[in-house]
Amino acid sequence: MPVASGGFPLAGHRPAVAVQRLAFFERVRSEGPVLRLRMGRTPTFLVNDHLMAREILGDSGDTFARGQFFSKVRPLVGNGLGSSDGAFHLRQRRMVQPAFSHEHPGYDVDALLGGIKTRVESWRPGAVVDMAREMDALANELINTALFSSDKVTGDADTIRDTIADFIAGVGVRSVVPSDLVDKLPTPANRRFIRARDRLEEALASIINRYRTDPQDHKDILSSMVAARDADGRSMSAGELRDEVLSMLIAGGDSSGHALGWAFHEISQHPTAARRLREEFAEVLEGRDPTMRDLSRLVYTRQVINETLRLRSPGWMDMRRTTRPVKVGGFAFPAEAELLTSLTALHRDPTVYPDPRTFNPDRWAPGHPQQPRREMFMPFGAGTRLCAGESMANLTMAFALATVLPRFELRPVPGSRPVREVCKGIMGASALPMTVHPIPAGKA
Ligand code: HEM
Repeated sequence: MPVASGGFPLAGHRPAVAVQRLAFFERVRSEGPVLRLRMGRTPTFLVNDHLMAREILGDSGDTFARGQFFSKVRPLVGNGLGSSDGAFHLRQRRMVQPAFSHEHPGYDVDALLGGIKTRVESWRPGAVVDMAREMDALANELINTALFSSDKVTGDADTIRDTIADFIAGVGVRSVVPSDLVDKLPTPANRRFIRARDRLEEALASIINRYRTDPQDHKDILSSMVAARDADGRSMSAGELRDEVLSMLIAGGDSSGHALGWAFHEISQHPTAARRLREEFAEVLEGRDPTMRDLSRLVYTRQVINETLRLRSPGWMDMRRTTRPVKVGGFAFPAEAELLTSLTALHRDPTVYPDPRTFNPDRWAPGHPQQPRREMFMPFGAGTRLCAGESMANLTMAFALATVLPRFELRPVPGSRPVREVCKGIMGASALPMTVHPIPAGKA
């Protein structure tokens, strides 16, 4: 297997991955389906082939386990779906899945729509809104509503919403620097993290305790998980519930928020797409709010969402570790090898997506001659590891577009800094300042 270009004599590819990030993965994508990376003593490979990436990411964790990043963060974030492997992951997945059913979700769809409307209707005509931050805030609110909607836990839910960003930022730092080293430094960021962590843990424990001691169906994900039983009739412990809730807060909040921010960015840059979306909403919804039943008729909306998730896939770097020697796509990997892949880079591969840098929702149009092959498109991952919240994310995005666009035109603020892709845990935008101009009733 060839070695990727861009390594340094001693430091190998660490600087390229740490500094250039997505740009590095995009640059070396055409150098081969599998490349060696020099990242210290652990044998490390970059997988640039879509079908191999699908096979590796979709595995249950018996052959391709979560990998070294997750070993570092597990003491902080626990062993929820986002970090567990093998039989335990499968058990948890079966217990969590009913809450995310496409047809009968465990969460209250109307409450999600209500949350979107409240926020959008609070925008003052002509105001400048940073859609990157605004959509992150909205998505975090919605995941909270979907998880715990009982009005008896409102205070604790507010605490979770207020602390989760500082907690995730601190976990990010501790994934690259050992916790025991960072924790001792009396920096403001550290104090913020420790305070956020303690408040978050307390609020989570309090909510979970309340739901377990008074198990009712609040029409939310936590109620569904409290009621769930495994094959032996056992329910989840308080610790397991804490880990699953935290996993969803981490996996579900920023990814949805960033995807929504990007969607509004692309729409603001492509007036034709904006016009066609408005026409579709006018025709299908006829001025009323969207419901789940409308989703199948919002065909162009689906194309815009797909194209956003292709061009701006939040998952710029994913990783796994081999538990045994294994062959994939004719390539042999040793045990304990770290495998990296970049969904964002794969979704910009010109051999699969002609003119990949162009935002073109029509490439997803039914019957389009260059429709990308479904198995090459995996913004939500694959197999047993497929994003648990995929249907909720799609629904939230469609509802947000259908709520914003008939009410407002979003115009980028002239003279603002060019938008940059910022690759931290996932890929977001530096800032998306836009002026919100109300659309007069009847003109949408
Ligand atoms: C546009 C929004 C979203 C995107 C692009 C996204 C993307 C992904 C991807 C790529 C994975 C697989 C990661 C891997 O294989 O290592 C994943 C997993 C996961 N996501 Fe999402 N996600 C989104 C929204 C959500 C939401 C709203 C929730 C929860 C309510 C959620 C919960 C999860 C969970 C729990 C996992 C781990 C699943 C497992 O391993 O069993 N995600 N997501």
